[in-house]
Amino acid sequence: MQALNVVILAAGKGTRMCSKLPKVLHTLGGKPLVQHAVAAARQLEAKTTHVVIGHGAEAIRAALAQENLNFVLQQEQRGTGHAVLQALPQLDRNALALVLYGDVPLIRVETLREFLALCATGSLAVLTCEVQDPTGLGRILRDAQGNISAIVEHKDATDAERRITEINSGILAAPVARLHEWLPQLGANNAQGEYYLTDLVSIALAAGYAVRTLRCADAVEISGVNNRVQLAQLEREYQARRTHHLMLNGVTLRDPARVDIRGDLVCASDVEIDVNVILEGKVEIAEDVKIGPNCVLKNCRIGAATVIEANSVLENAVIGRACHLGPFARIRPGAEVEDEVRIGNFVEIKQARIGARSKVNHLSYVGDSVLGSDVNVGAGTITCNYDGANKSRTVIGDRVFIGSNTALVAPVNIASGATIGAGSVITQDVGQDQLAVARGQQRNIDGWQRPTKRST
Ligand code: UD1
Ligand code: CA
Repeated sequence: MQALNVVILAAGKGTRMCSKLPKVLHTLGGKPLVQHAVAAARQLEAKTTHVVIGHGAEAIRAALAQENLNFVLQQEQRGTGHAVLQALPQLDRNALALVLYGDVPLIRVETLREFLALCATGSLAVLTCEVQDPTGLGRILRDAQGNISAIVEHKDATDAERRITEINSGILAAPVARLHEWLPQLGANNAQGEYYLTDLVSIALAAGYAVRTLRCADAVEISGVNNRVQLAQLEREYQARRTHHLMLNGVTLRDPARVDIRGDLVCASDVEIDVNVILEGKVEIAEDVKIGPNCVLKNCRIGAATVIEANSVLENAVIGRACHLGPFARIRPGAEVEDEVRIGNFVEIKQARIGARSKVNHLSYVGDSVLGSDVNVGAGTITCNYDGANKSRTVIGDRVFIGSNTALVAPVNIASGATIGAGSVITQDVGQDQLAVARGQQRNIDGWQRPTKRST
């Protein structure tokens, strides 16, 4: 098979976004728009991928720095044909070139595969689509036999041509060798004074080459983002695709319209997700997990049969099997929660390992700590990990019982089996199976007279 070179056009300004951010860096599904085109190129196993940049070039380069791409600077944006011409010297002479748009994120790889197959029988392939409202788009002109004869841009079209509802998606493919013949022939004698890539159709036909078209059945796939209304619409389409896929793979979504997936989600079967849940970054959810309403999970791994109750927020955390978290739990980066742990309401865990079956049920802060298994942390317990300058660690052994409202002033070590009396401020290590009580002694005073109100 012929090697593939993908050219992604992303030099335009995106004026209608009304934004400081280059259009293609606005996110869809948590990823910059242009990254969706890059992902398509990767799935097609493109030998090289070239991104034509102009407006916001540095920001785009920086955002895609990890992607192994070739950036082509288009200093002045003189049209789509001019953009591809800038990339041309970098393409392999004997490769097939596929042009994608940085602002068209939902094109399916299956569609592109079918489209590229057309290039076996023709020299130029154009992806078209029937749309309800073709305003502003290039129209596909066909001859009496129904073969494509040209593409005319909206601004250059006659009234009759404007009634055509088959439009040019902008996605196009041709052998690089042909582009070397055709692109230099483009002129800018049109309504916009631009070098139109679309003129390749008439140029190829005039030179006796066959031009093929594929009609994309779903207009969503070829929809571009020009403003934030369209961005929001495509976001919903994207989310619908993802939730659809999840449900067909055995995940119950209480309302698929009220779950947002912004990243790479791996979700086993029989997972239940309630409304307004946001899943960001790399999230892995094992089977039988239940996630309550209004939870946010970012870069987490959740073990099987764990229940996360309403309004919990988890980030960069690993949670074991059969745990019970929340409601209102806050699990911060570096939390490692082992199996069957219970973390209750208004509990914050940060950089801490919580051993199996341990319980931190109410109103606690556990940070920079290691807890053994079967530990019970009473309500209101705080690890005082910060002295104003440095962070220190708290180490708690297996089966420790910490009474309510204890302050553990780190660094401090509570050995296994120890018990801490409620209300203690623990500043020294506690040995194995010891009881530590560190609080003012209670005095009971007989016949106590309460103060009375002074008369004025
Ligand atoms: C283009 C097509 C039109 C098609 C429509 C689909 C041409 C002449 N017209 O029109 O037939 O129906 O897309 O959306 O090709 N870009 C550059 N450099 C430039 C100009 C554009 O990189 O000099 C990039 C833009 O950033 C964008 C893409 O190319 O990602 C399309 O440009 P845009 O100006 O939106 O093209 P349209 O006029 O909408
Ligand atoms: Ca456009």
